[in-house]
Amino acid sequence: MSETWSDEDYARIRRDAEAIVARYPDFPRSALGPMLHLVQSEDGFVSPRGIALCSEVLDLSRAEVSAVATFYSQYRRHPNGQYNVGVCVNPLCGVMGGELIWEALSGHLGVGHDETTEDGLITLEALECNAACDHAPVVMVNWEFFDHQTPASALAIVEDLRAGVDIHPTRGADRVHTFKEVSRVLAGFEDGHADEGPSAGEPSLLGKRIAEENGWRAPRVDEPTDSGATPAAGTGRVGEEHSSAAHKPATEADVSPEKVEKPGVDEPDADEPAKEEK
Ligand code: FES
Repeated sequence: MSETWSDEDYARIRRDAEAIVARYPDFPRSALGPMLHLVQSEDGFVSPRGIALCSEVLDLSRAEVSAVATFYSQYRRHPNGQYNVGVCVNPLCGVMGGELIWEALSGHLGVGHDETTEDGLITLEALECNAACDHAPVVMVNWEFFDHQTPASALAIVEDLRAGVDIHPTRGADRVHTFKEVSRVLAGFEDGHADEGPSAGEPSLLGKRIAEENGWRAPRVDEPTDSGATPAAGTGRVGEEHSSAAHKPATEADVSPEKVEKPGVDEPDADEPAKEEK
């Protein structure tokens, strides 16, 4: 990869970067996250020339840009495959079959965690929870969900990718787009696929439906509960008047000077067990 983009590409990418910065008029540096995704949408990873661009546009040092890029796992420091296949091996998915899926895919593709197949098509990643535990075990391809997987169904996914066949997530967009295409969406440039497919699956909606069938609802913040107590601001939850959620954070006025004063040398500390008298 060349150290710089062509003048034409640089001008185009810089325009996009400045469009991102314009979303954050008060805090331009907040644009860094989406700008790094923009770089990935061009180069497939956070390239040195991408770091230079972010540094120039945001008036940050390259070290500062790199510090962010190395902190978040969605930013790649080496070229990613066209499809990032993430297998959840966190305990819940793991015991539900995630570990077996991982072993099957890793053995079949001949790559380990964060490694890419020789043809540059697939990067395999062991993920720690995809926030889809109610659909365990879960596989993600370029951040699209494939729920309730088995080793056989996961192998079928990667074989379809190798055959150039479109793959269809359980939820979300109708088909999985490439890593670069998805990175551009993460940079905030919509691709028109956001409203395709269901966003929530049946297990996630079950609790909501049970609440609706039983007429359960959360009270407004200022609405007293059955016992007359008012839920803690921001919680809106019923029946927690005796829980920590119902207690407002202590203020200075709640704490008397006696309570904050440290015990003197001769005074016993209230938190320490009393010494036995001999
Ligand atoms: S443990 Fe796998 S999605 Fe949460």
